[in-house]
Amino acid sequence: MKTTATSCSNIAFIKYWGNADPQLRIAANPSLSMNLADLTITATVQFDPDFPSDTLTINGEHVTGGAAERVFRQMDIIRQKANFSHRAKIATESNFPAGAGIASSAAAFSALAVAGAAAAGLALSEAELSALARRGSGSACRSVPPGFVQWLAGGTDETSFATTIAPADHWDLVDVVAIVSAEHKAVGSTGGHALADTGVLQAARVASATERFIAAKEAVLAKDLPALGTVIEEDAVMMHGVMMTSRPPLFYWQPATLAVIHAVYQWRADGIPVYFTIDAGPNVHLICERPHAAAVESLARALPGVQKTMRSGVGGGARVLPSP
Ligand code: DP6
Repeated sequence: MKTTATSCSNIAFIKYWGNADPQLRIAANPSLSMNLADLTITATVQFDPDFPSDTLTINGEHVTGGAAERVFRQMDIIRQKANFSHRAKIATESNFPAGAGIASSAAAFSALAVAGAAAAGLALSEAELSALARRGSGSACRSVPPGFVQWLAGGTDETSFATTIAPADHWDLVDVVAIVSAEHKAVGSTGGHALADTGVLQAARVASATERFIAAKEAVLAKDLPALGTVIEEDAVMMHGVMMTSRPPLFYWQPATLAVIHAVYQWRADGIPVYFTIDAGPNVHLICERPHAAAVESLARALPGVQKTMRSGVGGGARVLPSP
């Protein structure tokens, strides 16, 4: 059977960085995110006993090598659950430009889990789909449930999954992404997670992560932007401190990254409630409420180091699309 599913990307307020179990992608700490309605990926999966091998196209381009192998490994987990060995034809399409500097693995592996499980005839719960997405990319588990989402690290494959803490319409937050570099990063997240424990700061970050997670969760539930903003900025900078002091160091920031951070401080001093977070790359996510999003976007675009911006509100969960 051939099935198509769609999934949003997500932006973490409290970051997943480092694994307790790298094979299973069981995180070292709990994380919290919101789905991004306007950054989506659709995945189509078809299993057929007559296919000689797995094949993957991304935005129409045939893909082989490491990226494809990672997707095929996720299909292996699905095949094992479905108890068959049919090969798969897999296609993903993103609605945002590939190579825009926006990580797409979360949306991709979430959509692949949902499409793949349905194509294999598996009736999995949301928690099981989230755990399956996690095996492809940790942060992908948070794109399966809708809205504002928590991932309690758990300790086992079955207990490490994400759940909704509030629906998408709970709070009209916007993520304005200031793209300062669209270059493909030299070290991706998977390589970065493996370095986390090589420095001395990760232990302190993990030890204090639950406290920040609880503060951020309470702030989301209370729709308290200053409280949320304060803790997400601290959490992001702490993760980058871990990265910068790993051995070897991972330094994702560019001069323009810091320029945007300083601009955010100035905008706040000028009365615009906006806060930043930064993933494993140089681009800066500007989090604000909808009424301020247009102003934040035009201010960001006017900064010299900002090449372009993208904007997204809060999104729903991953879902199977009706067949055409
Ligand atoms: C900085 O989920 O991309 O975006 O499991 O190796 O695919 P893999 O890592 P990934 O790591 C995400 C790191 C982050 C923070 C976050 O999204 O929580």
